[in-house]
Amino acid sequence: MGQKYTMEEIVTAAKVSGFIYQGSEIYGGLANSWDYGPLGSQMKKNIKDLWWKNFIQMNPNNLGLDSSILMNPKVWEASGHVGGFSDPLIDCKECKQRFRVDKLIEESTDEDLVVDGWDSKQMIKYLEDHNIVCPVCKNFNYTGIRQFDLMFKTNMGVLEDESSNVYLRPENAQGIFVNFKNIQRTSRKKLPFGVGQIGKSFRNEITPGNFIFRTREFEQMELEFFINPNDPKDWFGFWQEEINKFLIELGIDQNNFRVRKHSDQELAHYASQTIDYEFKFPFGWGELWGLANRGNYDLKQHQDHSNEDLTYRDPQDNSRYLPHVIEPSVGVDRLFLSLLVNGYHKEELEDGQFREVLKLSPKVAPITIAVLPLVKKLSDKALEVFKLLSLEFNVEFDFAGKIGKRYRRYDAIGTPWCLTFDYDSLDDKSVTIRDRDSMEQKRIEIDKLVNYFKDLI
Ligand code: GAP
Repeated sequence: MGQKYTMEEIVTAAKVSGFIYQGSEIYGGLANSWDYGPLGSQMKKNIKDLWWKNFIQMNPNNLGLDSSILMNPKVWEASGHVGGFSDPLIDCKECKQRFRVDKLIEESTDEDLVVDGWDSKQMIKYLEDHNIVCPVCKNFNYTGIRQFDLMFKTNMGVLEDESSNVYLRPENAQGIFVNFKNIQRTSRKKLPFGVGQIGKSFRNEITPGNFIFRTREFEQMELEFFINPNDPKDWFGFWQEEINKFLIELGIDQNNFRVRKHSDQELAHYASQTIDYEFKFPFGWGELWGLANRGNYDLKQHQDHSNEDLTYRDPQDNSRYLPHVIEPSVGVDRLFLSLLVNGYHKEELEDGQFREVLKLSPKVAPITIAVLPLVKKLSDKALEVFKLLSLEFNVEFDFAGKIGKRYRRYDAIGTPWCLTFDYDSLDDKSVTIRDRDSMEQKRIEIDKLVNYFKDLI
């Protein structure tokens, strides 16, 4: 079951209003690359700030990190990414189109089938048994399955040979693991503690698509939470609850997300337990946020490959051990798309006209308040209200066009409140606040605005 509105409607709304543009558009674009416009970049920043606040700033156990994208290639050998981070690929011999076999199978059925973890034989058998033809030319004539490497490779320095190969990181997590010792030593943190990072990741995806759902360049917000393996507290459950609270704080309707547990076959080689928070996109349920118990896999791998002692000395009994890790990991772009889908509505008004409204939480809406002088000649005075509010909030000032049209524009870009400065404002030192969702209006004194909005947000 998908959503009420199509992806096309969501993508059009996002492009038209300036949230997202096609990447390199004036040169005909670059496949599946997207640029976040003025509204999109502000909203993305708000999402990241809110994550940082909830997962780092307000948690006494957690710290932040900003590690580099390019790392010693040995990092990726140790983590298992070099030679092991790939997707199964198949070609149609008739029309030469290329597909990710697991997605080809999953998309051929309405069942909630998860093919991750199947071997090539199982996938070929499924294609044959269910006669899954090429979605493009409708023939059944495929090559065998090959593994396609997802790592983006480049060269560092002047030489372009094997010795200068480096990779763009495919996840943030490894930057955290390789810094575990530094962080623990310099912060003097005791277990349990977490290290979080927000940053770009790169994967040479075979089938990017669905707008910003799956791209080759994307941003992740990852937390690696280090624990004593004998800690009786259910930290996996704790972080599951934190994810849940965060999604609700963002205003995501509880009917739009669900939890799916990975089967044993599907589990990644490093994980002993994984769940995905899935979101109901217009094209069906899709992974939004992963929560994994990575055990001590990563620290052990890095310890073995670097010959550095990465163990932790327990202050209770001086024993040394490798901590275990619980990892909540979410893509910023996917969360962004979820918020667009969750918030997008078309409503019929009493006069028979339609309005587009993006019901975004004030915590992430790119513009929190629009200050609108009723007519242009009230601009100077209205600008004083803008100046007052812009010290605290993201505010836009707009005097162009009829007031009704301006309301419509701010509804469509998710601005929770419009303030209208009219002739009466000159005398009563008050403005009219219009609420985006209810469209109700009320009068409030200018002096009280800052506290009024602080309370609301
Ligand atoms: N460190 C664990 C890790 O990277 P993952 O499930 O591969 O796990 C975590 O990625 C999250 O990153 C996903 O749940 C998704 O939100 C986001 N993500 C992964 N690949 C992506 C892509 N190609 N485009 C956009 N977001 C992606």
